Amino acid sequence: MARKPVGVLFVCLGNICRSPLAEAIFLHKGRERGVLDRFDVDSAGTGGWHEGERADPRTIEIAARFGIEVPSRARKVRAEDYSRFDLLLAMDQANMQDLLAGGASEEQVRLMRSFDPQYSSTPPWPDVPDPYYGGDDGFLKVYRMLDASVEGLLEALTRDTA
Ligand code: 4NP
Repeated sequence: MARKPVGVLFVCLGNICRSPLAEAIFLHKGRERGVLDRFDVDSAGTGGWHEGERADPRTIEIAARFGIEVPSRARKVRAEDYSRFDLLLAMDQANMQDLLAGGASEEQVRLMRSFDPQYSSTPPWPDVPDPYYGGDDGFLKVYRMLDASVEGLLEALTRDTA
């Protein structure tokens, strides 16, 4: 019998830089591995300033360099997300606190880099820093952090749902 897909929501502040990139990398790797049908994947921002917009051009550019498309349109986190998604992946501590304040449960929320294989399974874990106001090299650094973290996340989730 088909199992209910595992809901995975990537969350940052504006939903135009970090979380759309994390979502795009997850979709790309999941498709490559043939496991995408096990997941319900989306991204959202704790702020709504960019509602309806495509990802930042620098996000689209860095992803394209690695052969990855970014399908996201920005949207704000909504109350239904707390029931729809099993896992809310916060890019930084502020995103995590905002999600908890908005009604997410402690069990639902994880810091993105807690899945980065270079860190142990216990805190502290570093943030994925906001690249919005920085130079282009910030996007490459963020890409590398997200690539490693998504790898660890997919590994953990496919181990659990295989
Ligand atoms: P993100 O970056 O949270 O990684 O999408 C930001 C994008 C836009 C803004 C802040 C952060 N902003 O204030 O508009």
